[in-house]
Amino acid sequence: MATESQFAIEVKDLRKTFGKGDNKVEAVRGVSLQVRKGEIFGFLGPNGAGKTTSLRMMVGLLNPSAGDVIILGKDPKERQNQNFIKERIGIIPQEVSLYLELTVEENLWFIANAYRIPRDTAKETIDKLIRDMGLEEKRKALAKNLSGGMKRRLNLIMGLVHNPELVLCDEPTPGLDPQSRVVVWEYIQDLPKQGKTVILTTHFMEEADRLSDRVAIIDRGEVLVMDSPKALKKSIGEGDLVEFMLADTAEEHLEQIASALKKFNGGSSIQDVYVSSDRVIMRSKDVISNLSRILNHMEDHGAEVENMAIRNTTLEDVFIHLTGRALRN
Ligand SMILES: Nc1ncnc2c1ncn2[C@@H]1O[C@H](COP(=O)(O)OP(=O)(O)OP(=O)(O)O)[C@@H](O)[C@H]1O
Ligand SMILES: [Mg+2]
Repeated sequence: MATESQFAIEVKDLRKTFGKGDNKVEAVRGVSLQVRKGEIFGFLGPNGAGKTTSLRMMVGLLNPSAGDVIILGKDPKERQNQNFIKERIGIIPQEVSLYLELTVEENLWFIANAYRIPRDTAKETIDKLIRDMGLEEKRKALAKNLSGGMKRRLNLIMGLVHNPELVLCDEPTPGLDPQSRVVVWEYIQDLPKQGKTVILTTHFMEEADRLSDRVAIIDRGEVLVMDSPKALKKSIGEGDLVEFMLADTAEEHLEQIASALKKFNGGSSIQDVYVSSDRVIMRSKDVISNLSRILNHMEDHGAEVENMAIRNTTLEDVFIHLTGRALRN
C-alpha cells in the first residue's frame, strides 16, 4: 500500500539549458531538494540565479532539460496527474498577471469560475481575500486603475481563490511599501496554519529570513546551501559583525585596511574580515572589549573611521561568504 508522502515537492537533479551555441544559458544546473508539507521554503538568490526557472519546472509550466519532479506525490509529466496537481497548487507569478479590464472582484470571480468553485464558497473566500489584502475600497475598481502595489496584492490572492494546498509564490513583495510588505509577510506566514505548504522565491534576505522555515541559497543555477535561516547564519561563524565606514572609500584602501585588521592581535579574536561595496566588515566574538584597540590599530594603518555599526549576521552575509559577492549585484 502506498503511504502518503511527507513531502509536498521532491526535486532531483533538475536542469534547464536555454538556447544553443553562443546563446546557451545553463539557467538551472542540478537542483535537488525536498519540501516538507506545511513548511515555508524560500529560494534566495540574486537576479538571474535560476529561481523562476526552477519554480516553473517544479509546477510543470516548463519542461526540464533533465531531472525529476514529484509534486504532491505525483509526476507532473503524466497527463492523468495534471488536473489533480492543477487543482491543488496555486501559482503566484513574478510578473503581475491580471485581467486589466475587469474589476478587482471580477478578477477573483474569473478564477473561481474557472475552477468551478461553488458560489457560496467562492463568495466567502473572495470576501476574505479582499479583506486580508486591504483591497475593500478597490473592490469595484478596474484592475488597470490600481496602483502598482495594489496590483501586486491582487496578483497574490488570484493564486489563492481555489484554496490550494501548495502555494508557489515567485517574489511576493517587489514594489510594495514597507507597510504593505509586512501585511503580505504576515499573510504568507499564516498560510501553514491553514494547512498549506509555501514555496517562495526572493532576493530580499530579510524576507527569506523572516518567512522561511528553510532557505535554499541559489546562485548561477545551483543551490549552494540549504537549511534554516538560523543554522545558515550560524554556519559562517559566531560573534557579531562590525561595519566600518571609512573616509576614504577607494577599494584599494578598504582592502588594505581589511588585511591590516586580519593581522590584529595575531588574528586570534577576529574571525573574518572582508570588504563589501563601500565598507569593511569584521566578525569578532568580543567586539566591545576589543573595540578601542581595534580602532587604534586601524588608525595606525591610516584608516579614518567615520562611522561604525555593530549588527547581527544576515543571510546576505552568508551569501557573501559563499560567493564573494553581494546579493544585489
Ligand atoms: N525563456 C528563456 N530563454 C532564455 N533564457 C532564459 C529564459 N528564461 C530565463 N532565462 C535565463 O535563465 C537565467 C535564470 O533566469 P531566472 O528567471 O530563472 O532567474 P531568477 O533567479 O528568477 O532571477 P530574478 O531574481 O531576476 O527574477 C537567466 O540568465 C535568464 O536570462
Ligand atoms: Mg525570477
